[in-house]
Amino acid sequence: MESFWQKLPKPFFASAPMKDVTDAAFRALVARRGAPNVTWAEFVSADGLYHTRELQRLPDAENPLMRDLAFDPSLERPIVAQLFSSRPDMIAYATKLVAELDFDGVDLNMGCPDRSVEKQGAGAALMKDPGLAVELIKAAKEASPLPVSVKTRIGYNKESLEEWLPPLLEAEPVAITLHLRTRKDLSLVPAKWELMNKAVAIRDRVNPSVLLIGNGDVASVEEGKQLALETGADGIMIGRGMFGNPWLFSANANYGLTMSVDEKLAALVELAHDFEKLSPPKHFDLLKKHVKAFVTGFPGAADLRAKLMESQSAADLERVLAEAKR
Ligand SMILES: Cc1cc2nc3c(=O)[nH]c(=O)nc-3n(C[C@H](O)[C@H](O)[C@H](O)COP(=O)(O)O)c2cc1C
Repeated sequence: MESFWQKLPKPFFASAPMKDVTDAAFRALVARRGAPNVTWAEFVSADGLYHTRELQRLPDAENPLMRDLAFDPSLERPIVAQLFSSRPDMIAYATKLVAELDFDGVDLNMGCPDRSVEKQGAGAALMKDPGLAVELIKAAKEASPLPVSVKTRIGYNKESLEEWLPPLLEAEPVAITLHLRTRKDLSLVPAKWELMNKAVAIRDRVNPSVLLIGNGDVASVEEGKQLALETGADGIMIGRGMFGNPWLFSANANYGLTMSVDEKLAALVELAHDFEKLSPPKHFDLLKKHVKAFVTGFPGAADLRAKLMESQSAADLERVLAEAKR
């Protein structure tokens, strides 16, 4: 079925899911400064959604997992929800839910190295069980009309694209994002972009209808365009490049790098206020990684950062900034 995926430019740019970073507040900031072509929400446990809603009967307004699925439809479309689980019935349940919440697509996480995720047989652990990975894709496809995509890595302990990609391609998700590292690599070695050509060749051979998105260490749209040209990737996903740089996807590729200190601090204040509006509330300390990312690279940044780290609210943060200006 036709979906937003077929209407994207080539190459297209996606913002990566990053738990406790790309929440609704940060994504809104990025959208206002220059939206990517596709936005990913943070990952959510499908089993957790079932448990909290159906067994615990926790009201949605009090459920942190439902907060993680909140988005602003006027800013963020097309937006993809990301789920993790090793149970097809849970993936089906959560896929129906995100369809009701009016997401534009659903993505299955098959790359997360987090122990708590892998212990459930989900995330990166699925690379060891391609049969189950295929069942999960099928369950998601059958559960709703939403287009289903997969985000994964190039292998578990070693690169194994020839074994891992074909079964996924045959299950025909609309797109596959490849973080160009193995599970074992974590994020400790540079992303292996030289393997993207190999992945594209396998895709062309096994199922040319599936879009391939490359991911890992891309710092700018300009660099992403070059990598897509060299490798044949249909799209590029960028994660950490957005830290402190919500201008990343805007028309001017290096905009964020040339932003004035005032503009960066104004973006941080805007973010802090939106962050406080998240419901149920997140602990203000989770905002501090953004403080580190925005308040850097200018004279006096270290001192200012130390003072801002003490703040416990957006108002505190604004007060420290106002005092620093005097
Ligand atoms: C703080 C943090 C949280 C992340 N959370 C997720 C997640 O929820 N789901 C996911 O698929 N990947 C997650 N990732 C991985 C990123 O989406 C991405 O694959 C990785 O950071 C490499 O891309 P980059 O070099 O552009 O950041 C996370 C990465 C970071 C740094």
